[in-house]
Amino acid sequence: MARLVYRCYAKINLTLEVLRRREDGYHELASLVHTIGLADDLHIESANELLTRAEGLDIEPDTNLVFLAAELLASATRVRAGAELTLNKRIPAAAGLGGGSSDAATTLVGLNTLWGTGVHLAELTRLAAELGSDVPFFVRGGAALMRGRGEDLDVLPPVQGQWFVIVVPRHDVLDKTKRLYAALEPTDFSSGELTVLAAHRLRQHLPLIEDHLTNAFSRSARVIFPGLSSAWTKAEALCGRRFFLSGAGPALFALAADRPDARRQAARLARLGLPTYATRTVKHARASIRLAADSTIGYP
Ligand code: C5P
Repeated sequence: MARLVYRCYAKINLTLEVLRRREDGYHELASLVHTIGLADDLHIESANELLTRAEGLDIEPDTNLVFLAAELLASATRVRAGAELTLNKRIPAAAGLGGGSSDAATTLVGLNTLWGTGVHLAELTRLAAELGSDVPFFVRGGAALMRGRGEDLDVLPPVQGQWFVIVVPRHDVLDKTKRLYAALEPTDFSSGELTVLAAHRLRQHLPLIEDHLTNAFSRSARVIFPGLSSAWTKAEALCGRRFFLSGAGPALFALAADRPDARRQAARLARLGLPTYATRTVKHARASIRLAADSTIGYP
């Protein structure tokens, strides 16, 4: 019986600029995104029907992006096969680290392999956009300049071994992404210039610098997530450096010089009693961690 196991990497928005509100209700973005080592594991096995299980997370089938991705690929390809998908969550959910989106993109890629449906990269990316604005990025991962609603992607050379420390304040804000977008004010909008500058450094293979990092939700997130502002101030004081919001938050990250520095900062942040991670950039959206002899991998 065919069995695939994938590591689905999280992302950090090194920059996230909102240029304007669009006629369709979405917002025009300029964001520099990078996949990082923090990951969920997704086990995919052949089965007669479509079954999804998540360990470490309570999710309803209709909001479970893995299930929705599987249904979408099945209906787009009219495949009759099933699959059993088991997710081991490590990426904190609804934190701004793209865990659900990464799992969904890997479901599309993994089932395309398991079912032998042969859907090409461009079409998988189009299907991914139906699942959420961040999902197309995770079909490839690595480094990308994200524009439009999130589906317009320029692939960039990935950064080698940039270390980060991440701290994730807890929250129970429902529909947080929608709420954060709705709370944006014209003063939160920017031209996209910092994102272009940061992307330029990647093209030149230069290291990232703090001065280019920015996030349009920095003001509104402090209003919407109770306790974020105080955790943010404390994190910056404990580690003696700036922290930045990833995505719509509330995950906060800071640049670290190397692995020992990232670990040292993570140890300092332990005082906050919040989930903390030391991690680094990775080149792909996923890695195949075990393959059945009769299977071949799809897009790496
Ligand atoms: O596309 P996704 O389902 O991830 O988006 C969730 C919500 O975030 C949307 O319903 C929309 O309100 C908001 N959004 C936006 N502009 C974007 C992406 C998302 O306004 N570029």
